[in-house]
Amino acid sequence: DDLDALIAALPKAELHLHLEGSLEPEQLMMFAERNGVDIPFKTLEDVRAAYDFSNLQDFLDIYYQGMSVLQTEADFHDLTDAYLKRVAADNVRHVEVFFDPQGHTERGLPFDVPIGGILKALDAAEEKYGITYRLIMCFLRHLPEEDAFETLAQAEPWLDRIHGVGLDSSEVGHPPSKFERVFAAAREKGLKLVAHAGEEGPPDYVYEALDLLKIDRIDHGNRSLEDDALTARIREAGLTLTVCPLSNLSLCVVDDLKDHPMKKMLALGLKATINSDDPAYFGGYMNQNFRETAKAVGLTREEIIQLAKNSFTGAFLPEAEQARHL
Ligand code: HPA
Ligand code: ZN
Repeated sequence: DDLDALIAALPKAELHLHLEGSLEPEQLMMFAERNGVDIPFKTLEDVRAAYDFSNLQDFLDIYYQGMSVLQTEADFHDLTDAYLKRVAADNVRHVEVFFDPQGHTERGLPFDVPIGGILKALDAAEEKYGITYRLIMCFLRHLPEEDAFETLAQAEPWLDRIHGVGLDSSEVGHPPSKFERVFAAAREKGLKLVAHAGEEGPPDYVYEALDLLKIDRIDHGNRSLEDDALTARIREAGLTLTVCPLSNLSLCVVDDLKDHPMKKMLALGLKATINSDDPAYFGGYMNQNFRETAKAVGLTREEIIQLAKNSFTGAFLPEAEQARHL
C-alpha cells in the first residue's frame, strides 16, 4: 500500500546490524562446503529449522555455531558484500555495522582475517552501491574484560578504520560495569561507544551503560521505558536508540509485534530508529522491519519519515553528511 511505497522510497541508515547475523542458511551451507567445515546440518531445511529460538541465549548458541563456517578473508568479504547488496535494494544509504572479532579469534582465526575481509567489502560499497559506512567492533560480554582488552590491542593497527566499540552477547549476568575500564581505554583512543542495554537486562544496566561506559548511543534500550526518570534522561540527552522490532519479536522481548513500544518511544520524544539486528535469523531486513512495525502498531507517514530522519541524525556522521540525506 501507500506506506509500503513510502518505506521503500525513503533513504535510510541502518545503525544496528551484526554482520555475522546476516549469514543466510544458503550461505552457511555454501561456506561450510567451500571450507570443508563439518556442520550438524545435512540440508537447507535442517539449517532453517535450527534458526528457531525464543530467547537471546538460544539465539546466541546457534549464532556462534553458524559463524564457524566463516574461515577466510574472502568469506567475510562475501558475507559483507551480500548484506550491502541486499540493503541497497531497501534504499539503505549508510550503515554502521557490528562485527564480533572474539567470535572468530576464540576459534583460532587471526584478528586480521575477519576485519580484512569486512573492510574490503565496506570500502567498495560507496562506488558499488552508494552506501557509506562506519565499522563498530563489539566485545562479547560473556567473556572477561581482560579478553576485551586483548581484542582492543589486536585492533590497534586497524584503529583508523574502526569507528567505535560496542558490547553484545548474553546480557543478563554481564552488566556494563564489567567493562568500565576497557570502554574508558577505547574512549581515550577516540572511538565512539555503544552498548546493547535493556534488551533482556533491567533499566539498571542502561543506567550503567550511560554512567559508567558513557555511551554515545543505546542498542535496543527497550526496557528503559520501565523507568520514567531514565526515559526522561535519554530524551533530554538526545540519545538515539537502535531498536530492532523483528528481533524483539523473535527473542520474545515482545510477545506480539502489536505490543511493540516503537510508537510509544516516538510519542515520548525518544530518538528511536528501526534496524534489523540479525536479519538472517530474525526474518527480515530493513524495509520488512519498517513495514511489519508500521502495520502492527499503526505508524503514520509522519512517524515513518521521522524514523528515517532519526537514522541519519543518530549516525556517527558529520552534520553536513547527515543533512545530505534528510
Ligand atoms: N543481542 C545481544 N547480542 C547479540 C545480538 C543481540 O540482539 N545479536 C548478535 N549478538
Ligand atoms: Zn544486536
